[in-house]
Amino acid sequence: MLENIEIMKRVKSVKDTDVTNKRVLIRVDFNVPMDSEFNISDDVRIREALPTINFCIDSNAKSIILVSHLGRPKGRDEKYSLKHILKRVERLLNREVLFIDDFQAQKDLINSQSDSKIIILENTRFYEGETKNDESLGRELATLCDVYINDAFGTSHRKHASTYGIAQYADVKVAGLLLKKEIDSFAKALTKPTRPLLLIVGGAKVSSKLTLLESILDVVDKIIIGGAMSNTFLKALGHNMQQSLVENDLLYEALKVLEKAKHKGVNIYLPVDVVSTDDISNPTLEHVKITPVQDIPTNYMTADIGPASLRLFKEVVSASDTIVWNGPMGIYEIDKFSRGTFRLAHYISDTYSYSLVGGGDTADAVDKSGEKDNMSFISTGGGASLELLEGKVLPAFEILEKK
Ligand code: 3PG
Repeated sequence: MLENIEIMKRVKSVKDTDVTNKRVLIRVDFNVPMDSEFNISDDVRIREALPTINFCIDSNAKSIILVSHLGRPKGRDEKYSLKHILKRVERLLNREVLFIDDFQAQKDLINSQSDSKIIILENTRFYEGETKNDESLGRELATLCDVYINDAFGTSHRKHASTYGIAQYADVKVAGLLLKKEIDSFAKALTKPTRPLLLIVGGAKVSSKLTLLESILDVVDKIIIGGAMSNTFLKALGHNMQQSLVENDLLYEALKVLEKAKHKGVNIYLPVDVVSTDDISNPTLEHVKITPVQDIPTNYMTADIGPASLRLFKEVVSASDTIVWNGPMGIYEIDKFSRGTFRLAHYISDTYSYSLVGGGDTADAVDKSGEKDNMSFISTGGGASLELLEGKVLPAFEILEKK
């Protein structure tokens, strides 16, 4: 499965090309979480794009056009306008930024900019052709620039007009510094890791992680499986999971993974006890029980891993030199069920191991646990990091690599 990383590592970086006096278009991922008043709750994706933008400013690019999506709008919808992030970008760059509402109608204005002027185009998903990787949209975006830089790791698993199509028509196409940093971090964790290498997987569904589990068995030394996805494994092993979320159609596949792991000498660790509830919306003491997995009460469903599992997982974590973590151990958004995930984050940060955290929920959980600064690397891509771990060559990298 590691060939994909080797291929993706080969992409040229913005440092390998000359952007001086060039019109540069950077595909960034400014898909940041916001509340109903458009307050950004986490701007890490914007901050992680700054090194590439600053590199272009320092290299005296003629103009720097930032292109991103925000959310999953169906056509033009103000709620998803990138106008809402403009101020934050201006503040972080300490520069005025030109907002372009409709790039197709404002090409002359865009082309007339100089002195490394920063321009942000409106949400690229307002254009119907974006998610369809429409050829004409890709071509049109390419005409805006002399150099195309992809720095949107979070969207690198999407084959869209601004992540893929454009690169087919741009004169020069390179990876931004974030894209490079992401792939180098995954390479460090997976291709020549300091062993033992531990994978921690969690989250709700086995179905979304089955490909990952199957492909990664050749790479890792041990795997901790937690979160609701462990229910399916525990049921496959004969436990009565009561009302817990179980993917019954995957019981056989779960057993196969366990069997294959055994065959390859990969130790798999499952929860030995769980926190369960019979009323998820009212998790007061009388509705929450901690029991061995053998004794989950009738009508209860699991919501977190228990204290004995945590002690076991702590031992496994502290005996690992590289740790890759993808998926929470329970419903960490609810206080009562956050302990398993947060404690695990503390255990990882207590080690001297190289720790790589997948994006999305896991990054959010690590942030909420207060351990963000104690991880070696936190990816900015949830879906993208999962597909990378599955052994796929991500489309955004693939097209940058193509001659
Ligand atoms: C993400 O948040 O995972 C990326 O920005 C990709 O967004 P998407 O899943 O809507 O394509």
